Amino acid sequence: MPLTEWRAPRAGCLDTYENPWENDTVRQLLLISAALLMLAPAVSSAQSSSSAELYATACASCHGADGKGGAREDLVFETPVPDFSDCEFASREPDPDWYAIIHEGGPVRAFDRMMPAFGDALTGDEIQKILDHVRTFCDDPRWPRGEFNLPRFLFTEKAFPEDEAVVTASYGNGESNALELELLYEKRFGPVGMVEVAVPVVSLDSTAAGHESGVGDIAIGYKHTIYANLDHGNIFSLGGEVILPTGDEDKELGKGTAVLEPFMTYGRLLPADAFFQAHAFAEFPTDSGFDDEVGLRMGFGRTWTTGGPFGRAFSPMLEVLSVRDLASGAKTKVDLVPQFQVALNTRQHILLNVGVRVPVTETAGRDTQIVSYLLWDWFDGGFFDGW
Ligand code: HEC
Repeated sequence: MPLTEWRAPRAGCLDTYENPWENDTVRQLLLISAALLMLAPAVSSAQSSSSAELYATACASCHGADGKGGAREDLVFETPVPDFSDCEFASREPDPDWYAIIHEGGPVRAFDRMMPAFGDALTGDEIQKILDHVRTFCDDPRWPRGEFNLPRFLFTEKAFPEDEAVVTASYGNGESNALELELLYEKRFGPVGMVEVAVPVVSLDSTAAGHESGVGDIAIGYKHTIYANLDHGNIFSLGGEVILPTGDEDKELGKGTAVLEPFMTYGRLLPADAFFQAHAFAEFPTDSGFDDEVGLRMGFGRTWTTGGPFGRAFSPMLEVLSVRDLASGAKTKVDLVPQFQVALNTRQHILLNVGVRVPVTETAGRDTQIVSYLLWDWFDGGFFDGW
């Protein structure tokens, strides 16, 4: 069967099958698999097909010629088909994830098996060509691409505007033996904006008053991506945060002053799935009794996968944190934070990072801390979806 005649089965095709399994998804899947097997030799001889032709032949029956999803009445399954022209959804998905889904089928990222595997039917080049065509459906270039949603460091802020919920726990802080949880919620607004709210919950063991716990200083921030260029691999954002004196100062849960914090963040894609991120900030307490502060956080890491190219992602990373008071004679505090991030579920939108923060200069009163976060990329599905 020549490639151009192949279509994924539609309701109409199935109607001509008079057999008792007509409504059985397994039956429909067998039909698709059979069609894919027949497609294999045809596609590999169709080297010259353009990306649009390949898409029209292999994908359009389900995903629609315009990428918005085939007409419901034409489809034999209930699973909603994504809208590739919706930039808010499409731009955030990086090519490697979509490549994996097209090659291996939906289940490789815990999506529905009605999204078939094309790994045997299409060459790598053809899958890439089709992907290039799928990318033309979102025609608003302002949305930074998901490739820039790099693994999150424990301290360095990303430049990508993300939809994430993160719980960070840090334990061990000099004499006060503190356990601190930070609940962070980040939400995108439009193509390049993002707001965030961070609520620390602190538990101190040996303050003057004994054991204290409660809410610390709550921070509210906004981040705006100024520049993102996938061809050059650079993303740059500016932002600002207001840290409110919500924590009780007497109980050492808060600083006792509001703080204004402008910041800039930069992300760089490097060859071989390596990456670099930097985050520079300044802190200006509104109460004149406190010194202003400047800081620079930087990190480098690389992502690998287990069990083949489409497997679970893990990223060893190293951060360098430096911070200095803007007062004469002040010394720069430098910390190193080796850490390890791993995707916990098949969808890869629940991630765990564990690291240690080791002070290397000005170590007096600063102990090594254990720091860890659990991150939920909530746009990609519920917390319990995709395991
Ligand atoms: C038999 C119907 C069918 C065919 C043919 C098909 N798809 Fe799909 N595809 C689906 C369905 C259904 C989903 C949604 C799965 C889900 O959400 O669980 C999907 C999901 C996807 C996704 C994942 C989107 C996300 O949520 O991140 C990508 C990418 C994709 N398809 C690309 C393609 C490409 C490219 C082709 C052609 C090579 C193709 N599909 C052919 C049915 C199909």
